[in-house]
Amino acid sequence: KPLVFSGVQPTGNLHLGNYLGAIRKFVALQEHHDCIYCVVDLHALTAQLVHDDMPGQIRSITAAFLASGIDPKAHIVFNQSAVPQHAELAWIFNCVARIGWMNRMTQFKDKAGKDREQASLGLYAYPSLMAADILVYRATHVPVGEDQKQHLELTRDIAMKFNLDFMEHIRRTGLGTDITVGDEPVHAYFPMVEPLIDGPAPRVMSLKDGTKKMSKSDPSDLSRINLMDDAEAISKKIRKAKTDPDALPSETEGLKGRPEADNLVGIFAALSDRTKEDVLNEFGGQQFSVFKPALVELAVDVLSPVNGEMRRLMGDTAYIDSVLRDGGERARARAEKTMKEVRDIIGFVQ
Ligand code: TYM
Repeated sequence: KPLVFSGVQPTGNLHLGNYLGAIRKFVALQEHHDCIYCVVDLHALTAQLVHDDMPGQIRSITAAFLASGIDPKAHIVFNQSAVPQHAELAWIFNCVARIGWMNRMTQFKDKAGKDREQASLGLYAYPSLMAADILVYRATHVPVGEDQKQHLELTRDIAMKFNLDFMEHIRRTGLGTDITVGDEPVHAYFPMVEPLIDGPAPRVMSLKDGTKKMSKSDPSDLSRINLMDDAEAISKKIRKAKTDPDALPSETEGLKGRPEADNLVGIFAALSDRTKEDVLNEFGGQQFSVFKPALVELAVDVLSPVNGEMRRLMGDTAYIDSVLRDGGERARARAEKTMKEVRDIIGFVQ
């Protein structure tokens, strides 16, 4: 079975973008893949060093995974800091990655803001730890929202450079396999990861501005639907969502230049596991006064059970913690197997 890895940061509340861009896909992949889902608490230090309630944040993401339908017995759910091999491999990748590569990361530029001298070294190295998260399991498939695409390209670059730089060592240890990258035959230890970004909502936009990404950091709560919102809040936010005055088109072509309409149709499609074409077949020619109530009903139907189960689980910290402990143990065993081999390849005496 192909190996899937993905992570979510325990910072702030989860929103519909996280759910449709990531978690809902995590759930769907379980059937035919071996999946490892991680609460990336080490990464959370790059957004903010001191957290008032780090344990609560970690448990709430874990609860969201479980409430959405991730099976922690058949797969692995854990928090990143429980597996120190992530940080160990990240250090090695810090020595593989080039400063010029990191300087091109748009998320770093956005998050560092104007005064880049004051950004933490951790924020700069964020993508290198992300590459380590994935490659410490030698995972091949990574479901994420579109904003993570550049980080996954960097992950491939890091894997490729490691494979090429250590090619002779990898051969000597007999640990690699022959793969082709483009037309090049490479004797590789790390695989080339494949981002899974498809689906009708790879980038969920703000409900207030269809050109801005839905995000935890938007000061307006009306810009996003939070996973913990109740039916009333969901309904209010969708009713107040920005739209244009026209009816919905009957073809996706007609959504061009209408970012808010495009976003709402994408959300509807993702929530109902349909395509945008299919949604427009039903709603083409209709006004938002018809479409919005249908979207409210659908969103409440899908999100309420998740919300309710999340609240229930949050009251059972003993269970949540036991899931993380068990997942951490199984993840550690797998990660250590890779790290033993990586130490061998590099030539560390162990
Ligand atoms: P984070 O916590 O910022 O986001 C979690 C997931 O939600 C997706 N996402 C969105 N998708 C669609 N529309 C949006 N508006 C939207 N906002 C967020 C993100 O793309 C992400 O998939 N760097 C990762 C965490 C990470 C990771 C990894 C992911 C750490 N290590 C290894 C994959 C593999 C992140 O930004 O998470």
